[in-house]
Amino acid sequence: MGCNKKALAALIGSVFMAGAFQVQASPSAKMMADTCAGCHGTNGQSVGPASPNLAGISKAYFIDSMAAFKNLEKGAEHGEDARPATIMNRIAKGYSDDQIEAMAGYFASLPVYKADVPHDAAKAKMGADIYDDGCAKCHDESGSLPDDDAGILAGQWLPWLQYSMADFQAGHREMPKKMRKQVEKLSDAEIEAVLHYFASQK
Ligand code: HEC
Ligand code: HEC
Repeated sequence: MGCNKKALAALIGSVFMAGAFQVQASPSAKMMADTCAGCHGTNGQSVGPASPNLAGISKAYFIDSMAAFKNLEKGAEHGEDARPATIMNRIAKGYSDDQIEAMAGYFASLPVYKADVPHDAAKAKMGADIYDDGCAKCHDESGSLPDDDAGILAGQWLPWLQYSMADFQAGHREMPKKMRKQVEKLSDAEIEAVLHYFASQK
């Protein structure tokens, strides 16, 4: 048998769906959000390493992300409105737009959480200048400002940041054009450094 990643993902998915069917007809936003805690942590404070913190995420970005996860599952073309993921496509399709909006309101109402992420201080220091030049315009205040509607990057777990960037670079996930222009200027070491910079934010 061995450890098969696909089988594991399917198992996690089916356990999750079984749980979802037990939810009451009109569960509160907090009750629905509690079912995300296994991966995203209690109150959206992920204990890492591959699931992002959701606490304080912008409402618009949450709704767009969930819609894009769902769209892909409905067969939409991969692109800005359809976001491939390891697990979230299957999870998102279990929720109506109203339920997603309710959860968005709940997570957005929580203060932004910055985890205590192990990182390399020298790389984070090198990453600060790269951030100023190439990322600050859209990921304001060290990536901690929900109003940017671009996800919270400050205090996110390093493996999650690395997976996200790798997904963008491989074209699995559509990178905003102006972000691509900045990312393409950077070496692998510079990208690694700027991700350590985000992870180091407290
Ligand atoms: C089995 C683990 C798991 C569960 C349960 C789970 N998630 Fe996720 N979530 C992930 C992972 C892993 C990612 C990164 C994308 C991917 O690979 O699927 C993610 C990404 C996300 C993102 C994108 C965040 C960003 O900054 O880009 C949102 C929004 C999200 N999840 C919401 C939810 C909500 C809401 C629930 C509960 C209804 C939930 N998740 C349940 C694992 C999980
Ligand atoms: C022109 C604006 C812009 C610039 C410049 C930019 N980004 Fe982004 N970034 C975005 C937007 C918008 C998103 C959300 C994309 C989406 O979900 O479709 C994003 C998403 C991300 C994500 C994934 C966040 C998540 O929650 O899933 C990472 C990681 C990231 N950017 C890193 C960077 C880095 C590193 C730089 C600098 C080298 C940078 N970005 C420069 C606009 C930008």
